[in-house]
Amino acid sequence: MAKDDKKSEWKEFFWNPRTGEFCGRTAGSWGLILLFYLAFYLFLACLFVLTMYVMLQTLDDYRPTYQDRLATPGMVIRPRGDQLELTYTIQYTETWERYVQALNNFLSPYSDSVQSQKNIECKPDQYFIQEDSGSLKNFPKRSCQFKRSILEECSGSQDPYYGYGNGMPCVIIKINRVIGMLPGKDKQAPFVTCGAKADDSDKLGALEYYPPNGTFNLMYYPYYGKKSQVNYSQPLVAIKFLNITKNEDVNVECRINANNIPEGSERDKFAGRVSFKLRINSIE
Ligand SMILES: *[C@@H]1O[C@H](CO)[C@@H](O)[C@H](O)[C@H]1NC(C)=O
Ligand SMILES: *[C@@H]1O[C@H](CO)[C@@H](O)[C@H](O)[C@H]1NC(C)=O
Ligand SMILES: *[C@@H]1O[C@H](CO)[C@@H](O)[C@H](O)[C@H]1NC(C)=O
Repeated sequence: MAKDDKKSEWKEFFWNPRTGEFCGRTAGSWGLILLFYLAFYLFLACLFVLTMYVMLQTLDDYRPTYQDRLATPGMVIRPRGDQLELTYTIQYTETWERYVQALNNFLSPYSDSVQSQKNIECKPDQYFIQEDSGSLKNFPKRSCQFKRSILEECSGSQDPYYGYGNGMPCVIIKINRVIGMLPGKDKQAPFVTCGAKADDSDKLGALEYYPPNGTFNLMYYPYYGKKSQVNYSQPLVAIKFLNITKNEDVNVECRINANNIPEGSERDKFAGRVSFKLRINSIE
């Protein structure tokens, strides 16, 4: 019967006992195909592993591969205030105690005892270079002490209110960490200068900088990154406003000066500088 013929034709397609063919191919033919795919996929897998391996070799655990090349670092102030505005009334303690609290918190890791424990005394006025030699990692890298007593009148030890209680407040400045940055060439350390903006120049009064001249000592550079230099403490500069005009807004701008850091470009006006408003009220 035709129906039976078809059935056996089908069966023969799968397995033909006469020719030894399986699905129309001999076992040897199937074997070759399998071998081909096996080799092909093995090749792809090897290629993938090789590519990954080469990629991983180029990564360094202790250095970010892609670093934002910010030529001019940003600056921040402490206490921050709202919208970079420090406003208070001398006679009302509650209007300035949060600034004092913020400075206490900010400076606690800079206490002399913590710093002596964590960090070493470095040779000042020169970079503290700790390069790796080839694949031998110079790890962990040491960091230099920055003791808050360097900030003298703004350290909080001579005056626990940082001048806020008598209308001569301190503002602390730090520049953002930039891995590998070597600011200042020819042994000239970068320093901070502050001035009043526009019409406020006669309201600013005299300023005092700590450490003297508002310098960031060269020994705090270069910075090698969080992973390499675990105990790194950013250097600080404090500014004390000695005779600022009361009951008026005074717009202040501080900037970093270094002979090899370009001034903030048009594109990034805030690089290398920070502006804030001070308003110190007095009811007397
Ligand atoms: C970091 O500080 C801890 C103490 O807080 C100290 O034991 C450790 O040796 C320091 N590490 C480096 C690399 O300076
Ligand atoms: C501060 O700067 C002046 C002049 O630029 C310089 O004579 C003086 O030695 C500096 N002081 C310190 C402590 O660097
Ligand atoms: C403080 O500033 C005022 C002007 O705002 C000035 O008359 C006075 O002489 C200054 N005092 C000191 C000690 O510089």
